[in-house]
Amino acid sequence: MSSEFSAASESALRSVVITVSDRSAAGEREDLSGPEAAHMLQEKGIDVLRIEVIPDDREVIESALRNCVANDVPLVLTTGGTGFAPRDVTPEATLAVIERRADGLTEAIRAASLAKTPYAMLSRAVCGIAGNTILLNLPGSPKGVRECLEVVLPVLPHALRLLRKGEDEH
Ligand code: MTE
Repeated sequence: MSSEFSAASESALRSVVITVSDRSAAGEREDLSGPEAAHMLQEKGIDVLRIEVIPDDREVIESALRNCVANDVPLVLTTGGTGFAPRDVTPEATLAVIERRADGLTEAIRAASLAKTPYAMLSRAVCGIAGNTILLNLPGSPKGVRECLEVVLPVLPHALRLLRKGEDEH
């Protein structure tokens, strides 16, 4: 991981991973999903600035996302809090921040996930753009992170460059 103020800060291929989990934020459960997402991003050449672990609190999530957008972080992945439980509010916090929806990414994830498990129907994950930032929700389990992120990872570098420069080779 590198500092936001390093030379890599010029790159479009930078990300922050946010694990949304009451139990992990309270130190009651080790966060395995954030590191899983970070590992996959780094293997794809996307720098991970940090992994944040925060509770399932809509205001806390929204503020963490807004902070990333304000700091021009190109990619923010959240993991967890997309299901049906009362405290699953990651999609609501994300929708409050995004300015343009990017449903293609979540549609692709849902289609691929449904081929693996019917429980994919239970994820309310959303994706969109705010400022120069792409925000994408992933489910909370390391397996869910892996299965969902591998679907969109091939197109993420192109998407990030498009958003930054407004142009790219097509
Ligand atoms: N998608 C994939 N590909 N693999 C999974 O294991 N888990 C599902 C779903 N999406 C899963 C998945 C389950 S069991 C739930 S409840 C929802 O994501 C929401 O998970 P979350 O509340 O941890 O975000």
